[in-house]
Amino acid sequence: HDIVFLTSEIYPFSKSGGLADVMGILPLTLSRMGVRVAVITPFYGRLSTGQYPVHLVQEDCPVGYPWADTTADIYLADYHGLPVYFIERGEYFDRRQYYCTHKGDYFDNCERFIFFCRAALAAIRHLNMGARIVHAQDWHAGLAMAYLAFWRRTDPFWAGVRTVMSIHNLAYQGRFSYRLFAQSGLPLEAWNMEGVEFYNSFNLLKAGIAYADKITTVSPSYAAEIMTPEFGCGLEGILTRRAADLVGILNGADYSIWSPENDRILECTYSAEKPEGKADCKKHLMGVLGLSPELTERPLLGFVGRLRGQKGIDIVLEIIPELMELGVGLVVLGEGRAEFEAMLMSVMEDYPGRIVGVIGYTEEMSHLIQAGADIFLMPSRYEPCGLTQMYSLSYGTPPVATAVGGLRDTITPYPDPGANGFIFSESTPEALLATVRMAVQVWEDRDAWREVQMNAMQTRFSWENSARKYMDVYASLHGDLLDTWR
Ligand code: ADP
Ligand code: GLC
Repeated sequence: HDIVFLTSEIYPFSKSGGLADVMGILPLTLSRMGVRVAVITPFYGRLSTGQYPVHLVQEDCPVGYPWADTTADIYLADYHGLPVYFIERGEYFDRRQYYCTHKGDYFDNCERFIFFCRAALAAIRHLNMGARIVHAQDWHAGLAMAYLAFWRRTDPFWAGVRTVMSIHNLAYQGRFSYRLFAQSGLPLEAWNMEGVEFYNSFNLLKAGIAYADKITTVSPSYAAEIMTPEFGCGLEGILTRRAADLVGILNGADYSIWSPENDRILECTYSAEKPEGKADCKKHLMGVLGLSPELTERPLLGFVGRLRGQKGIDIVLEIIPELMELGVGLVVLGEGRAEFEAMLMSVMEDYPGRIVGVIGYTEEMSHLIQAGADIFLMPSRYEPCGLTQMYSLSYGTPPVATAVGGLRDTITPYPDPGANGFIFSESTPEALLATVRMAVQVWEDRDAWREVQMNAMQTRFSWENSARKYMDVYASLHGDLLDTWR
């Protein structure tokens, strides 16, 4: 495998957000385009292996900690021809959740992902995967970039290996106490401002940014934003210094999963050519959630996402009375901060039949909302790429979104020609409300709405296009790879 991905999530085996969706399709697309790819990921206790059986390929693979004989078992699954390797070590990964409980992060996350990175690299070596490029995703895999930068100086096995670090969300950095740096086994030389040190803490994403040969992030706008203090989360300095090696590549959407014409979760399918079924999807969703039948004649707003500050759910909750005056309905699916969950439950009690909050994580409900809602809300404070707005476009549910990151790069705002959604610049309740008002007005004009909806459904974000851009990055590190793809 020329390219080996290191990721903490991959759909359909594990998923807590968009990273999993991307890992479930980018490596597969690359491999369909002739790139030899493999993926390495943790073997979580809550892994869904259902249709894709995993089997043990290496028991007790030595992980090579400098201070102890530690091993991992390596499992393998065949995901439509893509090899997915799982690092099994029960005491680290066999837990109820991936990273945290409702009481907070697992206290040993640093150790867990030091282990993951070391074990993944050990597996590459032990199983002779032949990696020419190791491609790490997010903070969980960042340390691998640092290990490789040091190891390849002295160890001929790693000498020719090049590295790529992809940032899906700069706000999650994996920051730990400086005391844990020693556990990593990195040389002291790495402990400096241009290395893994960040205001006297040990920063795993920074390790990736500092030591990877190339850095990518998931949209061109976010690539520019993260070099500014407003969006850089303290890493704007080092990112700016690495600007020549930083590129933004927009994610695509997996239309085999996210298209209303072949979505088997829906009661009724529909398409741009035959859009009638969407009304039945709305009726079905309203029935399932017990929404008031009057809403058939009024727009239903939908929200699907983590209930965190990033996603701006609090901005929605601040304008509930005004939204209700507009005569719209609201359905929210998500889980996250306890205070947002509680606020949601309380407005649901205030407006029975008009607002429904579904707290939890259910793939099925997310499809029902994408299809059944009229307008999709995405008032994110920042958004590296965002996949849910791409899905909502595909389902003819035009988004109302903030002008940040990937939202800017995927939505053409009304009233521009070819508009497929609505954009506002300040992430404030007033701006959101004004833009929802505009969307509702357009909704009331049948023809105008139909046009926005059609534009939305015809918007396509192809993974092949994005995969080609990743191939350019790989080729810039190992030019000879180009010949193997022809
Ligand atoms: P992020 O990765 O920042 O959470 P994205 O828009 O990139 O945002 O991707 C989020 C993914 O997680 C989408 O596939 C979305 O449908 C899914 N998702 C988020 N919250 C939920 C939930 N509560 N139930 C089901 N799916 C969810
Ligand atoms: C992150 C970002 C999201 C992006 C996803 C996949 O979770 O928050 O914007 O779409 O990663 O790249």
